[in-house]
Parts: sequence; structure tokens; C-alpha cells
Amino acid sequence: MTVSRALLSEVDPDISEILKKETERKEFSLELIPSENCVSEAVLEVQGSILTDKYCEGYPGRRYYGGCQYYDEIERLARDRAKEMFGAERANVQPHSGANANMAVYLGLIKPGDTVMGLRLDHGGHLTHGSPVNFSGLLYNVAAYGVNTETGLIEEEEVLRVAKESKPKMIICGATAYSRQIDWEMFRRVADEVGAFLLADISHYAGLVVGGVYDSPVPFADVVTTTTHKTLRGPRGGLILCRKEHYKSINKAVFPGLQGGPLMHQIASKAVAFREALKPDFKDYAAQVVANARALASALQELKLSIVAGGTDSHVMLIDLRETGVNGADAEEALGVAGITVNKNTIPNDPQPPKITSGVRVGTPALTTRGFTTEDMSEVAECIRGAVDAAGDDKKLAAVREKVVGLCKRRPLFPHRLS
Ligand SMILES: Cc1ncc(COP(=O)(O)O)c(C=O)c1O
Repeated sequence: MTVSRALLSEVDPDISEILKKETERKEFSLELIPSENCVSEAVLEVQGSILTDKYCEGYPGRRYYGGCQYYDEIERLARDRAKEMFGAERANVQPHSGANANMAVYLGLIKPGDTVMGLRLDHGGHLTHGSPVNFSGLLYNVAAYGVNTETGLIEEEEVLRVAKESKPKMIICGATAYSRQIDWEMFRRVADEVGAFLLADISHYAGLVVGGVYDSPVPFADVVTTTTHKTLRGPRGGLILCRKEHYKSINKAVFPGLQGGPLMHQIASKAVAFREALKPDFKDYAAQVVANARALASALQELKLSIVAGGTDSHVMLIDLRETGVNGADAEEALGVAGITVNKNTIPNDPQPPKITSGVRVGTPALTTRGFTTEDMSEVAECIRGAVDAAGDDKKLAAVREKVVGLCKRRPLFPHRLS
């Protein structure tokens, strides 16, 4: 016996066929989910490499398995590049995902039962920032702050009020559906006022921070977490950056606290993505993501679609659908039929339940990767408005779908994978 060299299509025609269909779906639809992107072939190559085979529990120079010499090199490279990208003192590249990264920070800095403070889920926070159905809400006491529902903005007065009332051990800033610049320095002030650790979760904004178009929390937060697969355009995964005084506890929390063997193929492909993000053209990419988002927000507003917080400073925005008479779930469905991928999302003070919602969340990282520019955004906005208005009308949705395919053909994603 030796390692099988049979092609996927021979070994598993079912998965092979699904992969083909998904490649076509991606090629011929507008990916507007702000947490998704399209990685480079180099990132894919490493992710699909023999590095997947190895166990490397522990850290470089201190492994619990033999044969790790090259994996030490990989992990050191990934850590060094992560520190360089963000100007951070220390980095841990092992978290399997963004949720794991956040969990490790809880485990490393505070104790179960302690109070944490995060942005309300229905105002744009993430599950791991204190949702009652997540480990964060199950194991910790949660005090949540909200946005001003008139303006859609996070304001110091509210953050300070909740902090003074709840006296949290840790304050979490960062969001999953918040379009404007987060005032990291304000959060540091509030954390200092109540003696709390400050965790900034930049899962959404990381690539923009590296590209210099969104302010960095690194000078202000004790710990910064991020996913590596959103605006940062790497493989799925998590990353923790921290001040040196927290490094030992964070490392201990990741391993052995939370995870077993690190996914070394994933860490190697993070390293590749970090190298790509350190190149000068990544700055152009990040700037284009924001320019495209701003152009899309304006174009949607011109078509009388309301944007929460009046616009965006980042890659993401929330469309408030209340005036259209179409709810978030129906809009997501209609847009999907037209080949525009979004997710339904609550808007601040949403009258609808989370399974229905009154909004959809859209973003520009993936479209920007395939070469969309500000000039394309009015057509993208027209397709969005057209699909929302055509909800339930298959004939009209088919007409929007045709336009979407035309746009996709103009900006091909991976034609080499379709042939
Ligand atoms: C702000 C924020 N934190 C954490 C996560 C969790 O990341 P993952 O899905 O990799 O666990 C997300 C993912 O959507 C996020 O938006």
C-alpha cells in the first residue's frame, strides 16, 4: 500500500460534483456577505498540503511530539508576520477560529462567573460577546451595551453608564454588524475608569486595519482577537494579539486550556496570507474595499434604501428594509434567487424577531477581490433594489439574475477552475 494518488472525482464523485457546483455558484453570483472573501491560490495550495498530517501540540521549541522542526519554522514565521502586520507585542496563531480565539481570552484573563460587557447581539455584537446561548453567556455574567437607536452609533455615555453599573472584569469592543469607526481609545478610557481588561475583537476589520484604512485598537486594548478569513483574506481561522504581560496566560488558555494539536496546514496558510497582507498592494485592496462600500451605500441610498448609521467607514453596512415592506428573511431569499448572497440581520430596535429581521447585512471584501470598483457599485445597488422589489416574483427575479451574471462575467473570479 502507498498513498492513494487517485483524483477526487474518482475517489468521491459526490463531493467532487458538489465542489464543481459551488465553484460555479461563486463564479456567477455576487458575494456580499461581509465576512467572506476569496483566498489566493497560494493560500489554497498550503491549506491542501501534507502539513495537515502533523501533530504539534505545544509551541515552537516546546512540542509534545517529535518531527516538528519545520512546523516550528512555520509557526514562528506566522507569529512574526502577525506581529509585524499589527505592530503587536505578541501573537498566538493557533486558535482554530474566531470564536476559539475569544474563548481563549475569557479563559486566560477572567474566571467563570465574572462580569463581561459586550455589544448587544441585536445591535451588531457577536455571539461570543455575551449571547445567552453561547459559552460567553452561559459561563459568565453579561452586561450589554447598545447603540443609540436613533443614530445607530456606539456612544461613550452609554458604554460608561453600563460599565459603571455592572463593574465588568472585561469589556469587549468590536462587532459583527457595525459600519462606523469604533472609538478604541474611548473604550480604553471606560475600561480604565472601572478597572477592566479591554478585549478588541477586530474579526471584521482586521484587513482594513492592516491596510491602514481603519483605526487600530492595538495601542489601546490588552488583547486583540481576529478571524483571519474576512477582510484579512486568509484561510478560516483565529489569531490573538496581546501585550507581553498577558502572553503566558493567553498561550496557556489556547493550549492546553482549549485546544489540542494546532492545525499546522492552516497556520502555514495563515502565514502565506499574512505575507500577502504585508505587501504594498494589500493597502490598495483595503482602500478599495472601503471606497466600494461607501459607493455602494450612496448608490443604495439614492435608490431609497436606508442604511443604518447613515453610511459606512468600513467594508460593511446594514440595509434597513422597513420602508420597502419586505422583511430581512424574504429579502435574503429573493436576493439569493437573483444570485446575490447576503444575510438577513437585525437592525437596532428591530420590530421583527431574529429569524425574520428587518435588515440585510452587505459588504464589499469579496467583490473587491474579484476586481469590482466604485464604478460597478451603482449597478450592484440596482440589482439589490431590483431583487428586493421583485421578492416573490420569479419572472422579475430571473431578469435581475441575468444582470447579475453579466456583472460576474465582466469581473471573472476563477475562470481557470471552471474549464
Ligand atoms: C466579531 C466576530 N467575532 C468572532 C467571530 C467568530 O469567528 P468564527 O466564525 O471563525 O468562529 C465572528 C464571525 O462571524 C465575528 O464576526
